[in-house]
Amino acid sequence: MSNDETPSDISPVDPEKPSVARAYDWYLGGSTNTPIDRAFAERILTVLPPAKTMAVDNRNFLRRAVTYLVDAGVRQFIDIGSGIPTVGNVHQVARDLAPDVKVAYVDNDPVAVTQSRLLLRDDPATTVIDADLRHPGAILDHQDTRALLDFEQPIALLMIAVLHFIPDRDDPAGIVAAYRDALPRGSYLALSHLTDETAPPELRQQVRTCINLYQNSASPLVARTRATLAQWLDGLDLVPPGVTVANQWKPDSTPRSGPDHDLVIAGLARLQQERS
Ligand SMILES: C[S@@+](CC[C@H](N)C(=O)[O-])C[C@H]1O[C@@H](n2cnc3c(N)ncnc32)[C@H](O)[C@@H]1O
Repeated sequence: MSNDETPSDISPVDPEKPSVARAYDWYLGGSTNTPIDRAFAERILTVLPPAKTMAVDNRNFLRRAVTYLVDAGVRQFIDIGSGIPTVGNVHQVARDLAPDVKVAYVDNDPVAVTQSRLLLRDDPATTVIDADLRHPGAILDHQDTRALLDFEQPIALLMIAVLHFIPDRDDPAGIVAAYRDALPRGSYLALSHLTDETAPPELRQQVRTCINLYQNSASPLVARTRATLAQWLDGLDLVPPGVTVANQWKPDSTPRSGPDHDLVIAGLARLQQERS
């Protein structure tokens, strides 16, 4: 699909169901959400008060990772689970540093896809793909991905705050490996993910309650550990400080949005120049 398709080409939104993309938009202060999304997001906040802070912290990690990648010379991005185009999208962060950056955005939420296409319809250096990350081939071999990106040059593939919507039965390790194996040499994988491993017991219970609420949504949620993320990135060169709490990944001077809850972990790794 291409940027010039109209929103009517996209499957209709069910206004009766909350969407994780639109709830996340609300946490970030965006306005692309419905009363049902807001009610869902507010309910999550009552069981997991740090939810909003986590969204901001996660977004700050995204910004720092993209900044690092552009500084490292990367000019091509695939952002999977990109969400509603709120301020601070990958192309905006990257182009402040390098105007020639190209970005393929991917999401399976119809509103996220529609809004992204509207925002980017006049931007030929981006594309927006409506796809599920569980199908790497459908994304990597999509004609718009291939038309935009040069698979002879490094690509940074971002899966930021999205793999926690993939249950173990869908083999997230295998999915990450499929992306890793298809990317050009010198490419990068960036991940962030919900965790409860360092949370004190009360907070851990809040995360459990939140996960239970998500069981009834279209996107059930799962918490994982730093060891699991490190395993997914095994064999790649981990960029220091490795897989860690998102707030501790190359922190900058941006003020923290709230107390350090450490519920988001993150890592960035580079594929070696030569295949082993
Ligand atoms: C919490 S938001 C994260 C947005 C953005 N990556 C960020 O970190 O700011 C998660 C996004 O992943 C999308 N998503 C969830 N499951 C997905 C899947 N299986 N394939 C593609 N996108 C998915 C949701 O629609 C939502 O837009």
